[in-house]
Amino acid sequence: MPHPFHLGLFLQGSSVQAWGQPWTGRIAETWMKPEFFLDAARSLERACFDYILLEDSSYIGESFAGSRAIYLHNGISVPRQDPSVVASLMAGATRHIGIVPTLATFAYPPFLLARLVATLDQVSGGRAGWNMVTGSSDFAARNFGLEKLTEHDLRYDMADEYIDLVDRLWKSWHPDALVADAESGMLVDHERVHQIDFKGKYYSSRGPLNCGPAPQGRPVIAQAGGSPRGREFASRHADTIVASVVGAPAMRAYRDDVRARMVGHGRDPDSCKVMFLVTPILAASMADARAIQAERRAAEARQTDLKMAFLGKITNIDFTKLDLDAPIGDLTTNGHQQLLDDFKKAAGNKTLRQAIVSFNHDGDGVELLGSPDDVAAQMGEVMQEVGGDGFLFSLPNLHRRTLAEIEDGLAPALQKRGLMRKAYAHEHFRDNLLEF
Ligand SMILES: Cc1cc2nc3c(=O)[nH]c(=O)nc-3n(C[C@H](O)[C@H](O)[C@H](O)COP(=O)(O)O)c2cc1C
Repeated sequence: MPHPFHLGLFLQGSSVQAWGQPWTGRIAETWMKPEFFLDAARSLERACFDYILLEDSSYIGESFAGSRAIYLHNGISVPRQDPSVVASLMAGATRHIGIVPTLATFAYPPFLLARLVATLDQVSGGRAGWNMVTGSSDFAARNFGLEKLTEHDLRYDMADEYIDLVDRLWKSWHPDALVADAESGMLVDHERVHQIDFKGKYYSSRGPLNCGPAPQGRPVIAQAGGSPRGREFASRHADTIVASVVGAPAMRAYRDDVRARMVGHGRDPDSCKVMFLVTPILAASMADARAIQAERRAAEARQTDLKMAFLGKITNIDFTKLDLDAPIGDLTTNGHQQLLDDFKKAAGNKTLRQAIVSFNHDGDGVELLGSPDDVAAQMGEVMQEVGGDGFLFSLPNLHRRTLAEIEDGLAPALQKRGLMRKAYAHEHFRDNLLEF
C-alpha cells in the first residue's frame, strides 16, 4: 500500500523574485498587492498542501563587494514584505491550509510574538504556524539597534528559553477560560487565566496573554536548524522540520538522526514531520523538463556573481574579498552553518570560482523532473527510500502557471497513486499534519 506524504511551499518573500521570467505578466507593478499570494494560497489549498512557509529576513543583502547594489539590481531576497501581514491575508482567503510566517527571535520580544501567532491562530481557525529562526546576519541585527547577532550556539540556548516563555504565555489561558455564560453574565473565568511571572536568564514576562487562547493551544512550530546544535533544538521543539539535504541517503540519515534525538527528548518521533527542500521541474514531457533544466543550469553558470551574492548573504561572507582562483580555505560563519558546511564539503579541493559554479543552492535535494506522472513516481520512490515525511517546494519561478502545474498536474498524479490526500480530514493545521 502506498503511504501518503506531506507537501508544503517555501514562499521566498515576494513573487517579484520571478520578475523577468516567462509567465510573470505585470508582476513588476502588481507584486505589492496581495492578489498573487492569495491566488497561490487558494491554489495550493485546492491541491491539498499542508502548509505555506513564508520565508523572511529583515535586511537587504550587503555581502557582495560591500554593497547593496547587486541585491537591489537583481531583486535577490528583496523586496520582502512583512510576513505577518501577508500571512493574515492568506488566512482570510483560505479555510484549510496551514500558514507559517517566519519570525526571528532576535527581532520580536516573546510576548509580542506569542500574541501575534496566537491571534493568527484565532483568525485562521487554528491554522497558524511559526517558523522559528534565530537570525543569521549582523546587518539584520543592526536594523534592530543591536551591534551584532549573538554567537550561533548561544542563539539556540536563548531560543530554548524563548520558546519556554512563549509556551507558558500560550498556556496562560486555560482552554475553557472563555465561558460566555449569559445567565451569570461571565465572559471569562478569571481563575482560568494565569500570570506566568517568567524570569529567565535572557527574557522575562509577567503575562498572562491578553488575546485569549489559541485554538490549537500551541500553534505549529516549524524549525530548520541544520547544525548539530540546531538539530538538537529542532528535535526538542518542532512539529515540522524543514531541511535542505542533498540525496536520498543523506535525507534518510537526517531524518533518522532527528527522530533519534526526539526519542532522546522523550518525544514520539511521529509527532514531527520532516520536510525536504526540493525544486521540481514540471513540464508536458520528460524532454521538455530536461530542456528547462539545461537552460536553468546554463543561466546559473553564467551568473556566478549572483550565486556568490546569495551565498554571501546567508553566510555573511563577502566572497569578492577572497581569491577566486585559490582553494576556498577554512571559511567560518555566525550565520547558517549548515549551508556553509555543505558548500565546503562540495568544494573539496576546487578553487572558489569552481566551487561557486558547481554549488547548487536551489534546494535540489533530489532531482525531480518530467511530466506530472514522472515526478509523482519519482517523489514516491524518494519517500520510500527516505522513510517519510514529505517535501517542501522551493520554486525559483513561482507564477500562476507554476501553480497550475502543481494544482492541475502534479497533485492529481500524486492523488491517483495514493501519495497525497484528496481532502483535509481535520479543522486544525496540526491535526492534518499528524494525520499520517
Ligand atoms: C527550508 C529552510 C527555510 C529557512 N527559512 C529561513 C528564513 O526564512 N529565515 C531565516 O533567517 N533562516 C531560514 N532558514 C535558516 C535556518 O533558520 C537555519 O539557520 C539553517 O537551517 C541552518 O541551521 P544552523 O543555523 O543550525 O546551521 C531556513 C532554512 C531552511 C533549510
